[in-house]
Amino acid sequence: MPTKPAKRSPRMKAGHRAEETLRVLISHSRIHTRVRQMAQEIRRDFPNEPMHLVGVLKGSILFLADLARELGGEVSFDFISVSSYGKGMDSTGEVKMIKDLDVSIEGRSVLVVEDILDTGLTLKYLLRLFEGRKPKHLRVAVLLDKVERRIADVRADYVGFVIPNEFVVGYGLDYDERYRNLPDVCVVRLGPRGKTKVEA
Ligand code: IMP
Repeated sequence: MPTKPAKRSPRMKAGHRAEETLRVLISHSRIHTRVRQMAQEIRRDFPNEPMHLVGVLKGSILFLADLARELGGEVSFDFISVSSYGKGMDSTGEVKMIKDLDVSIEGRSVLVVEDILDTGLTLKYLLRLFEGRKPKHLRVAVLLDKVERRIADVRADYVGFVIPNEFVVGYGLDYDERYRNLPDVCVVRLGPRGKTKVEA
């Protein structure tokens, strides 16, 4: 007789690979609520201003798409792609431009949209770059902030969630280009191959 599969709590997920385990840290419904609140905070500060959203590829795209819809009013998008050299788990602090913006930000109200603020080195590089291009306003919205990991002296104006020092995936964030499409933000952990442990 076939045995019933063990029940999983909704906070538990199997990873894409046998050695990877996932634990839901922030559910999609919490993200949705918080993104709506963030949009209200931004519109309170810039009620009638056309907002130019600059998404940092690729991790910010789901956050940017949801934030843009909640913002209302006049909104335009552009994207930039940068990479930190020798990253693995730790950045060397050297940031390289992969793709620059398509249009000028001079005189615009710019909102940099980032998935996660970790060491802050990427954001420091971007802010220095953008400040030199003379925007009317320059603000930063991040979904996640790993405050403990900060090296660079930068802060975001709008923060979704402060999270502990754990490697997270989902809602745009990846591990080795995987898991970006998860609706929830999950902690990913590596375990011994073949011994998938789904955490509570
Ligand atoms: P920072 O320059 O150290 O602040 O790094 C920012 C970038 O590192 C983010 O835009 C992410 O692409 C990546 N990153 C940092 N922490 C995580 C994580 O926990 N999961 C996935 N990507 C991360």
